[in-house]
Amino acid sequence: MDTFDCIRTKLDIREFSSDDVPQEIKSKVLEAARMTGTGLNTQHWRFILVESNDNIKKLAEDSTSGGWVANCNFAIIILTNPKYSFHLIDAGRVLQNMQLAAWNYGVGSGIFTGIELDKLRKDFGIPQQLNVSAIIGFGYPQKKLMGNRKERLPIHELAYYEKYGISNKS
Ligand SMILES: Cc1cc2nc3c(=O)[nH]c(=O)nc-3n(C[C@H](O)[C@H](O)[C@H](O)COP(=O)(O)O)c2cc1C
Repeated sequence: MDTFDCIRTKLDIREFSSDDVPQEIKSKVLEAARMTGTGLNTQHWRFILVESNDNIKKLAEDSTSGGWVANCNFAIIILTNPKYSFHLIDAGRVLQNMQLAAWNYGVGSGIFTGIELDKLRKDFGIPQQLNVSAIIGFGYPQKKLMGNRKERLPIHELAYYEKYGISNKS
């Protein structure tokens, strides 16, 4: 898929079909994570691939804003090291790359950040020194997606030319 079309049509998905995502696509998603750049090339992040039904159920139970993850096909927990001031920028880059890599193969995904940390750390053996930055649930979308469903502000409200507040190119 063309990169721009991939970005344009990608939506955050919370309803998944029960179809399995092939292992090769899961590997591609992890490889997209590995290939993403980090500040100072520190590669401080770690990823946990969650595939078993039991563990996906635990993810949903340990969440405060991502109960829908219970119906995903697989999930990835993104851990970053908060000793780096830029760790959340790295988390944002890698999660978007994973979502786009998946969407390139028609696999949808959604993210959540509302987490019951103590429970999640215990259930998945996550060390205290790593921050749980986001969790992504992946799967084939249950419904046909319309890229134009996106609700976004018009460009003139978001982008300025040369100086803050100048919306029109003169
Ligand atoms: C930093 C961040 C945190 C988010 N946290 C949650 C969350 O806790 N639960 C959830 O269902 N969606 C969460 N989302 C998904 C957003 O709601 C979604 O990106 C936004 O509504 C746009 O969706 P769309 O691209 O499908 O239009 C989060 C997104 C971002 C970027």
